[in-house]
Amino acid sequence: MRHTTAADVRLKRIPRYVFCFLTIFPVLLMLFSLPFLDELAEFNFQRNVSKSMSLYNLTEKKYDDSNRRRLIEQISLFNKEQKVKNEEIFGTLNNYSLVIVIQVNIRLHYLRYLIRSLGQAQDIDKALLVFSHDFFDENINHLVNSIKFCKFIQIFYPHSIQLYPNVFPGQGLKDCPRNSTKDEAIQMGCLNAFNSDRNGNYRNPQLCQAKHHWWWKANRVFDLASLQSYKGLVLFLEEDNYVLKDFIHVLKLMEEITKYSCRHCKLLAMASNSNTEAYYKAAMQTSKVAITDRFSNYGMVFNRSVWKEIIKCKYSFCFYDDYNFDFSFRNVFLSCMKESHFLVLYAARVFHLGAW
Ligand SMILES: *[C@@H]1O[C@H](CO)[C@@H](O)[C@H](O)[C@H]1NC(C)=O
Ligand SMILES: *[C@@H]1O[C@H](CO)[C@@H](O)[C@H](O)[C@H]1NC(C)=O
Ligand SMILES: *[C@@H]1O[C@H](CO)[C@@H](O)[C@H](O)[C@H]1NC(C)=O
Ligand SMILES: *[C@@H]1O[C@H](CO)[C@@H](O)[C@H](O)[C@H]1NC(C)=O
Ligand SMILES: *[C@@H]1O[C@H](CO)[C@@H](O)[C@H](O)[C@H]1NC(C)=O
Repeated sequence: MRHTTAADVRLKRIPRYVFCFLTIFPVLLMLFSLPFLDELAEFNFQRNVSKSMSLYNLTEKKYDDSNRRRLIEQISLFNKEQKVKNEEIFGTLNNYSLVIVIQVNIRLHYLRYLIRSLGQAQDIDKALLVFSHDFFDENINHLVNSIKFCKFIQIFYPHSIQLYPNVFPGQGLKDCPRNSTKDEAIQMGCLNAFNSDRNGNYRNPQLCQAKHHWWWKANRVFDLASLQSYKGLVLFLEEDNYVLKDFIHVLKLMEEITKYSCRHCKLLAMASNSNTEAYYKAAMQTSKVAITDRFSNYGMVFNRSVWKEIIKCKYSFCFYDDYNFDFSFRNVFLSCMKESHFLVLYAARVFHLGAW
């Protein structure tokens, strides 16, 4: 999910502390004592598999210009049509449903595991999955369309590198190379020579796309026709996440806590930002959630009314100097929605398997 180590440095610079614990007895205690060890073994296996897989080759030119124009049209049609698949089997959304949004780039092998984990989850039949793609790929589409366990919809980021490889967000001819020094850039006369980021690097199309896609997607999701009267929770995942079987049940318990004990909890997170792998076993032995001011970007959940507040803070997101979306998003809460608290799950229900 994070693409750079610089971000980790930034995280350490802002030590924030947990100021309140809540223990949700006895329901969670029972829940957490369930034997998760099988799943843990599988989780390890997933990691080993995914580590050994190489990334797709992004430079491969699959589409030439005329194909690309057709693709732009096709994507525009898809986005207009907003076809919810499997709705005839699982019924329309109600306020007790769950909307799960998944940002998908190109890592098919991770997505396969995420979908499998979702398929095994309790109550998944009441959820709507929204797949938001920035790469149109037949194999990915085929995988998504094989889903039988709940309703889903696909949306496509219309300003992707795939569609615009030689202009923004792709690498334009006059864009400065990411790793050139300022002097080199000025000598070269490239366009953004005077606008390197805080680490002295120039724009990286992939990282830039991730942030723009995230913001587009969140806007788009709340605008979807099928969500117009939906007031419930929206969970944000990424293609390289993995969920545990009871994650929906636990999320509903968290929602109850916000109603009765934490009205300022704007954001729920299904894992803390600590190293989730190392944390896993220890966390499984606790039944704690924390009301905290320590932001977590893992398995973030919020509803439409919170989203409306976030939109008002758009400048805090858009003008934040970031390699991805998550620190920008955190900045919204730190600099604009300052009264917010977060409700963070100690025993994670969402895991991050990817290496980036
Ligand atoms: C995964 O790899 C680690 C070391 O890389 C090894 O200790 C572990 O047994 C492996 N797990 C599985 C399920 O193969
Ligand atoms: C990616 O594909 C391009 C064109 O097919 C090829 O020249 C390049 O070597 C490939 N890169 C990797 C890392 O496989
Ligand atoms: C959700 O609740 C609101 C009122 O709070 C209602 O207007 C709306 O129709 C409900 N939506 C669904 C999908 O049930
Ligand atoms: C930037 O990276 C490219 C390829 O990774 C390399 O060929 C080039 O020398 C680097 N330039 C600088 C200024 O480091
Ligand atoms: C949305 O979440 C906020 C913050 O947790 C909460 O105060 C509000 O009641 C929620 N809205 C609905 C309609 O559930």
